[in-house]
Amino acid sequence: MSASMSAIDPVLREVRLHVAPPHETVTAVITKNELCVRGPKSAKYVRHIEFDVSGTALEGAFAAGQSFGVVPPGVDEMGRPHQVRLYSLASPSAGEDGAGKILSTTVKRTFFEHPETGELVLGIASNYLCNLQVGDAMQVTGPNGKRFVLPVDIQAHDYLFIATGTGVAPFRGMLLELLARGCERQITLIMGSPYTTDLLYHEEFEALSKQHANFRYLTAISREDNGPALGKLYVQDRLRASMEVLRGQLASTSNLIYICGIAGMELGIFQALASELRGPALAGYLAIDPAVAGDVGAWSQRMIHRKVKPTRRVMLEVYA
Ligand code: A2P
Repeated sequence: MSASMSAIDPVLREVRLHVAPPHETVTAVITKNELCVRGPKSAKYVRHIEFDVSGTALEGAFAAGQSFGVVPPGVDEMGRPHQVRLYSLASPSAGEDGAGKILSTTVKRTFFEHPETGELVLGIASNYLCNLQVGDAMQVTGPNGKRFVLPVDIQAHDYLFIATGTGVAPFRGMLLELLARGCERQITLIMGSPYTTDLLYHEEFEALSKQHANFRYLTAISREDNGPALGKLYVQDRLRASMEVLRGQLASTSNLIYICGIAGMELGIFQALASELRGPALAGYLAIDPAVAGDVGAWSQRMIHRKVKPTRRVMLEVYA
């Protein structure tokens, strides 16, 4: 039996999928659309958007951590209807309202310069969503995704959530759910943002960490000092810097690690785990090819997918 099997692997909850497929979208109505970042100085444009699916096939159909699809109206340059775009839910399984009727998501406006003309191009779906007003209708699909969800027995595990940017959306839903259902195990959220003004749901997480002794909220700010001795931090640097308080949780054979955000964080987090943990504690999270085990600093994004395999206690959702 491998070390990871002797640890407590999660039995993930059974979820519903594709209740509303792309050819049978349902109409949701926007109930809230507000800025999610902390202040007008923030350069990012991230919004918390809530929508009502009551009376549709999607009422009560979602689990925290799943995604839903949005179909922007109109057609693309080729005259074809826009395709479905997926967004993570930011709400718990019971929704924002406790009854699975009001769902939420966290959307960052995307824009880029056209490579040839230099014109500003707005991302279609994100700007469509961010511009919706309360009362507007939108077409949604889903649910999508079955691997990035909570276990059936929430009391059987501890939880380390590591997010960058809007990658925090599924963790807000999972955290609200764990706390609402009375989970007494250790829950830690490490949240990475460029500036403190970019932290998402910061006041909400701070308030929850004050109310619940088992919820620890740590931030990693990449472009400002995190404290005199710390300097600028990525989430993986925060993991190392806070090892004294995190070691006990990481050593727990039932601890789960969920990672969501920018693709590069995967390498950094794996390197931090491999440098800080030893023996069964490390093997509980990563199966490392012995050929590369000795030189963690030389790992690269390209080789880790072949040489460093996360166990079932590590759940990953990263994007470019
Ligand atoms: P930076 O952009 O300073 O390099 P957002 O989605 O709001 O832009 O936040 C993403 C956060 O993830 C930023 O703080 C960004 O830092 C950080 N980041 C960028 N690359 C990595 C990486 N390889 N590992 C961990 N964090 C990263």
